[in-house]
Amino acid sequence: MPVFSFLNFFEAMIQFKNISKHFELKGQTVTALDQINLDIPDGCIFGLIGYSGAGKSTLIRLINLLERPSEGQIIINDKDFTALNSSELRQERTNIGMIFQHFNLLQTKTVAQNIEMPLKLLGVSKAERQKRLDELLEFIDLKHKKDAYPDELSGGQKQRVGIARALANHPKILLCDEATSALDPQTTKSVLALLKKINQEQGITIVMVTHEMDVIESVCDFVAVMEQGKVIEHGSTLEIFSKPQQNTTKNFIQTVLQQQLPVNILNNLENKNHNSIYCLKFLGSSAQETVVQSVIKQFDISLNILFANMTEINGAVIGQMFVQLLGDATLIQQSVAFLEQNGVEVTQPGVQP
Ligand SMILES: Nc1ncnc2c1ncn2[C@@H]1O[C@H](COP(=O)(O)OP(=O)(O)O)[C@@H](O)[C@H]1O
Ligand SMILES: [Mg+2]
Repeated sequence: MPVFSFLNFFEAMIQFKNISKHFELKGQTVTALDQINLDIPDGCIFGLIGYSGAGKSTLIRLINLLERPSEGQIIINDKDFTALNSSELRQERTNIGMIFQHFNLLQTKTVAQNIEMPLKLLGVSKAERQKRLDELLEFIDLKHKKDAYPDELSGGQKQRVGIARALANHPKILLCDEATSALDPQTTKSVLALLKKINQEQGITIVMVTHEMDVIESVCDFVAVMEQGKVIEHGSTLEIFSKPQQNTTKNFIQTVLQQQLPVNILNNLENKNHNSIYCLKFLGSSAQETVVQSVIKQFDISLNILFANMTEINGAVIGQMFVQLLGDATLIQQSVAFLEQNGVEVTQPGVQP
């Protein structure tokens, strides 16, 4: 059972209430966000996924009011951010850190100066800044680069500096807009691990915008799928991965967990009858092999495993097996019923073109 299974059990840290955002562009109105209602629980890592132009960046920028909504309210920790005056807002913003795809570091400042910048702006004393800087450099493992300039750093190192700068003032919320999209897969992994550590050790709520499902899969407790300014589906990552409802969600999941049978596998079969193909989905840590073996033993049918894959989300396993069932139609029906009784979800998958 994942820790964050039911949204309602947790206090919402960030609430979007009837949020819409329109932009005027060359005399035309662009609706970037359309009536969004969404709660982000305290202490979780929350992913916002969608194709380019879906409205993800606009939504995340509303959290610290870098962008103001055209309609609706942003409630953070029970406080209506949309009703704050500018000095109250300045104060509240110090609780929110943000990191970006292209890091946004000041090129003419050193690593140390970049990290210290927000504290300097807040008027923190030199001695305190020094102390916090040392902690942060230690935390991001970049002590040896403290006097280097951004140009002298790798992408991963730049993002670590971005993270340290965002954490300088001990924020309660960290916003990440495509923070790993400019990084190679290995570096992405290490940055995601650092973000997970920040969430777990410091209890910071992290909101993460991405267009990559493997980012969601590896670190997010919850996910909301966006399309054309709307949230089309949301829930715990495990729920969304195990029972995606919308086509866009299915397409995203397809990138990490094959939902359809690859066509060349079908082409190589002796019996190409598409109706004989089933997808068996196993949730949690259910003993797949045992169930499949029992079917073969109990029913006089032939079961060929064509393709199998599995993924792990927050410690729970989702496994899929594409099989071909051949034999007497009634026995096949009975086998399917047996599998379902044993907790296996059985569907007839499409074929990937
Ligand atoms: N400042 C702006 N002016 C006009 N249109 C904008 C502005 N910012 C975003 N948009 C439009 O709003 C929509 C959502 O954009 P965005 O939030 O950047 O999407 P995403 O981050 O999901 O790619 C797009 O159609 C985009 O062109
Ligand atoms: Mg964006």
